Amino acid sequence: MAIEWNERVFRLGVDDIDADHHRKIEALNKVEFLIESEAEASVIAKALDELIKRAAEHFAREEELMRRTRYPALDKHIELHKEFLERLSSLHASSFSAEKQTDARAELDFFSDWMSVHIQNADRNYVHWLHPER
Ligand SMILES: [Fe+2]
Ligand SMILES: [Fe+2]
Repeated sequence: MAIEWNERVFRLGVDDIDADHHRKIEALNKVEFLIESEAEASVIAKALDELIKRAAEHFAREEELMRRTRYPALDKHIELHKEFLERLSSLHASSFSAEKQTDARAELDFFSDWMSVHIQNADRNYVHWLHPER
């Protein structure tokens, strides 16, 4: 199910990271919309590429920030990012033929839930560690 960006729920107070999260949610929603509207596989694959690119860039930015500030739970956080990207990339490798769309939708639900929970927990923990007042 598409995630609706909600400042109160998702905003962590670090502008770059918040902007990334917003864009990443939009990219995921776009993939979902294209699958729902039975767009051509090549169009879906392009949107998925964009999502993977945004996710990879965002994770790299976040990890760099955590490394620079010596976040103690960095390794665990990197592991979470890695698992997400691997799973997202394996969806990318599969085709989007009509009979596979149900599987693709179920996977997208997983990614929506993951993103929502990750931002509100793992990322929020980091921001709280960095800025205890937030
Ligand atoms: Fe993260
Ligand atoms: Fe994040």
